[in-house]
Amino acid sequence: MVRSALYGSCLLGRGAFAFCYKISVYWNSKMVDAALKLYHHRVNFRNVLSEVRQYLASEGVKGVPSLLGVSLNPLAIVTSYHGPTTLQQAVKDGTSPLLLMRAVHQVADTLSQLHARGLTHNDVKSDNVLISRTDAVPGISTTVIDLGGMTTVGATPYRGCGLRSQDYPYLSPEVVSGGSVSYASDVYSLAKMTASVLRHFPASCPAAARLRWEVKKCLHYHPEHRPSLTHLQEQLGVFIATPPSPPLRSKRHS
Ligand SMILES: Nc1ncnc2c1ncn2[C@@H]1O[C@H](COP(=O)(O)OP(=O)(O)OP(=O)(O)O)[C@@H](O)[C@H]1O
Ligand SMILES: [Mg+2]
Repeated sequence: MVRSALYGSCLLGRGAFAFCYKISVYWNSKMVDAALKLYHHRVNFRNVLSEVRQYLASEGVKGVPSLLGVSLNPLAIVTSYHGPTTLQQAVKDGTSPLLLMRAVHQVADTLSQLHARGLTHNDVKSDNVLISRTDAVPGISTTVIDLGGMTTVGATPYRGCGLRSQDYPYLSPEVVSGGSVSYASDVYSLAKMTASVLRHFPASCPAAARLRWEVKKCLHYHPEHRPSLTHLQEQLGVFIATPPSPPLRSKRHS
C-alpha cells in the first residue's frame, strides 16, 4: 500500500532519519493531502514506535500534525500535510521578518501546550517548523513537526550519544552533554530560533534590542537561570504587537 501511494509522489524533504513524500489518502470520507515519513533502513521499529506514541500523546495540540496511519513494512508513518515551507527556507527566501516572528510566537504557543502535558519536544529547530501563508490575520500558520525526539520532562534521550555541540547548536548545553531534558531546554532552543529571526531587524530598533536582551537570558548556560516559556511567549507577543522599526531589507521579499 505504501509503495502504491508513493507512485508519482513528490519529495517534501529529507532528514537524518527519513525521507518525506506528499501523498493522497482517504480520510474522513474524502481524499486529503498527507505526508508519508519513510524511515531510513537503519531506523528500528522501537524508534518509530516512540514517535507514534508521541503523536498519540500530543493529539489535539494545536500546531502539531495529526497521525493518520502507520506502516510496519516498510517502516513509515502518515501524518497530515502542512507547509509547504520550512521556517529555515522562509528565512532564506526573504519572507517578511515580522511574519517569521509571528511564526516563532505560534511555535511558543504549541510548545506551551506540549509542556502542559508534561512533554518536551527536544528538537526545536527551524527545519522542524512548517509554515503556510494565510489570507486572514496573522497571515501565517505554523506546525511543529518531527516528534521523534519528544519525551516526558526529566528523560535523558541523548545520554551516552556523545553529541558534539557544534553539530547541535540549537540544543541546550545540558541536553547535548546527555543530561535531562526540561521545559528550560526547549526554551533554549526556541530562543535560538528567535535570535535567527531577530538578525533581520536593525540593531537600532528598540523593540528588537529589548527582545535580544530577553533571548540572551533564555540562552543562559544553566537551565534553572533561564526565564520560563511563558515569559518568552509574552515577550514575543509584545514584540509582534508593537510594530518594530522597518526590518532590514532581505534579498527577496515575499
Ligand atoms: N507533515 C508534513 N507536511 C509537510 N512536509 C513535511 C511533513 N513532515 C515532514 N515534512 C518534510 O520532511 C522533512 C523531514 O521530516 P522530519 O523532520 O520528520 O524527518 P527527520 O529525518 O526526523 O528529520 P531530522 O533530520 O530533523 O531528525 C521536513 O523538514 C519537512 O520538509
Ligand atoms: Mg526534522
